[in-house]
Amino acid sequence: MKRAVCPGSFDPITYGHLDIIERASAHFDQVVVAVLENRTKASLFTVAERIEMIRETTSKFSNVIVDSWSGLLVDYCKTNSVQAIVKGLRAVTDFDYELQMAQVNLQSGIETMFMATAPAHSFLSSSLVKELAHYGGDVSSMVPINVNTALKAQVARK
Ligand code: PNS
Repeated sequence: MKRAVCPGSFDPITYGHLDIIERASAHFDQVVVAVLENRTKASLFTVAERIEMIRETTSKFSNVIVDSWSGLLVDYCKTNSVQAIVKGLRAVTDFDYELQMAQVNLQSGIETMFMATAPAHSFLSSSLVKELAHYGGDVSSMVPINVNTALKAQVARK
């Protein structure tokens, strides 16, 4: 079975992530969306909340499953027989960071495949969505409805 992982912090999942997940699912037998810790970022949602939002929005894809992992991504891949990491590249600003991670992960024998983000999502990031939502901005074109509702609830709670 050809299995790929789409890793990320998904805090929260956006239409940009979903586009990559859907397109990756056309090229692999199974795609695992894995919520991992990014030690450089503080998170708004718990891992359980993020997983629930991802499950709700990816349930329409029959070969996509959702998981989480605390540790190195390459260890996740080895433990779960994942052959490839799939990541979206939005712009040249993503490239340095992503190339560095891909090369480090390649040292452990795990390939990374980059997919060009659809132009409609090239500016989109979870950080931008959180910033807009924090100040009451409209993010309905950037995230699925369940994520929009969760963001509004989080903002109201603070
Ligand atoms: O959505 P993000 O925050 O850009 O995703 C980054 C993530 C979570 C995929 C990356 O930080 C990661 O792989 N973390 C797990 C720990 C790890 O393997 N680090 C080494 C990468 S060289």
